[in-house]
Amino acid sequence: MSKNFDVVVIGGGPGGYIAAIRAAQLGFNTACIDEWKNEKGGPAPGGTCTNVGCIPSKALLQSSEHYEHASHGFAEHGIEVKGLGLNLEKMLGRKNTVVKQNNDGILYLFKKNKVSFFHGRGSFVKGDANGYEIKVAGAAEETITAKHVIVATGSNARALPGAEFDEKLILSNTGALAISEVPKKLGVIGAGVIGLEMGSVWRRLGAEVTVLEALPTFLGAVDEQIAKEAQKLLTKQGLAVNLGVKIGTIKTGKNSVSVEYTDAKGDAHTGEFDKLIISIGRTPNTIGLNAEGVGLKLDERGFIAVDGDCKTNLPNVWAVGDVVRGPMLAHKAEEEGVAVAERIAGQHGHVNFNTIPWVIYTSPEIAWVGKTEQQLKAEGVQYKAGTFPFLANGRARALGDTSGMVKFLADAKTDEILGVHIVGPMASELISEAVVAMEFRASSEDIARICHAHPSLSEATKEAALAVDKRALNF
Ligand code: FAD
Ligand code: NAI
Repeated sequence: MSKNFDVVVIGGGPGGYIAAIRAAQLGFNTACIDEWKNEKGGPAPGGTCTNVGCIPSKALLQSSEHYEHASHGFAEHGIEVKGLGLNLEKMLGRKNTVVKQNNDGILYLFKKNKVSFFHGRGSFVKGDANGYEIKVAGAAEETITAKHVIVATGSNARALPGAEFDEKLILSNTGALAISEVPKKLGVIGAGVIGLEMGSVWRRLGAEVTVLEALPTFLGAVDEQIAKEAQKLLTKQGLAVNLGVKIGTIKTGKNSVSVEYTDAKGDAHTGEFDKLIISIGRTPNTIGLNAEGVGLKLDERGFIAVDGDCKTNLPNVWAVGDVVRGPMLAHKAEEEGVAVAERIAGQHGHVNFNTIPWVIYTSPEIAWVGKTEQQLKAEGVQYKAGTFPFLANGRARALGDTSGMVKFLADAKTDEILGVHIVGPMASELISEAVVAMEFRASSEDIARICHAHPSLSEATKEAALAVDKRALNF
């Protein structure tokens, strides 16, 4: 195997492994180094996303939703379930199988695309515009060289000072995805994406979940109308969300955790929990890269400093994904990986940050793209809004899930779509139409005039677009 490469990617998460595949497709002799280990010590490429993020969380969200349907939802359909049981070990085992299928899939893709895979930690030894030496510390230690380096080392869960993760009582996303017994009382600090998704999983499986959030508003980055609706729906399901909370001392006992906090009114409380998930954001991971040694510049928050093209301060060194600025999303990391590989090949890779969709996989799902109403107001943009509730959608009624709505925001003069916000069934799939429309700079009228299949949830999208011009047909 050649040890001199055109492109070496450090990190095999969605940013890194996709960059490596694209670079290989473009004809570069490419290597990808990833240090993630499975329980047997073998390689487990795919990063946070595959091992302890997107994939396992969606597997558990699916399983727990099935359980909730069987417990509460089927009766309405005339399906009577007797003797319903929960085999958590099997559910977690299935999640692990799904993860492994994805790990193996990536190793297969590396082979198929002739990407050389190195299992171990990659770090810069030295280099300049003529090339870089990268040390790989795995089962053995070796040094490889690269003309171009793409750093895609991802992120880690942010700890709360004084409450380090032990993954037994105080859990990051890693522990939150592997609780072996449903906790009676589960505390969650941070009502962000992980807090709501993992809080939903364990609530559905029977835990009493208390979420403690510092900000006074629920999902502050989400369109206010959609966030309010989501808060109402999730609270009704039994997720107790406390806003404007200030966390005090956190103490662990033998089998429990106590959290002192003050509520929005300033009243003091102590929450006693069997487990505590801390999901207060993530920090960029540059540990062990020897960034300092080669002069790779980090910004003041510890992210690798890059320009709009993902170029770092070092010649021919690029960085993508969670370790650089921008939303910490797998699809953002992937798009940056592809764009960088294409730029190395002299092409004009491009990532449109205005059309990156967000999805929170609660039930109902919350999804959006583009500007929120509060952003448009702050920017002084004149806009028109149209909403359509799933309550008036035939397919949603047939499904038995009529919660939520679709909301369109369009420019008051040109009618160009500026943002689309959805809380409702299959919002994660529905949002794609809005992303495509915005990429093509469509108007709300374009969507309103396009034929949508009946009966489908996507008709709610069409109706919301019609509602921008106050001519919804079914509401
Ligand atoms: P990572 O996926 O973190 O991969 C980095 C890889 O680099 C890791 O394998 C790491 O071991 C390796 N590495 C680090 N340093 C070195 C080194 N020096 N040498 C060798 N290897 C190294 N995003 C979504 O879009 N949708 C979701 O549904 C979603 N769900 C999530 C759920 C949870 C619970 C969490 C925690 C995150 C979720 N995310 C989701 C976010 C998503 O996981 C990240 O945005 C994505 O994984 C970032 O990809 P990346 O390639 O930049 O980094
Ligand atoms: P987050 O940024 O989504 O939410 C963190 C929350 O914690 C915020 O609401 C914040 O105000 C709150 N917080 C911060 N400090 C606090 C404190 N001291 N006390 C109480 N609350 C506090 O971060 P999260 O949920 O940890 O997820 C990290 C990232 O992972 C997400 O931002 C997202 O990029 C990614 N992710 C994406 C998913 C998806 O796309 N579906 C799913 C899960 C994670």
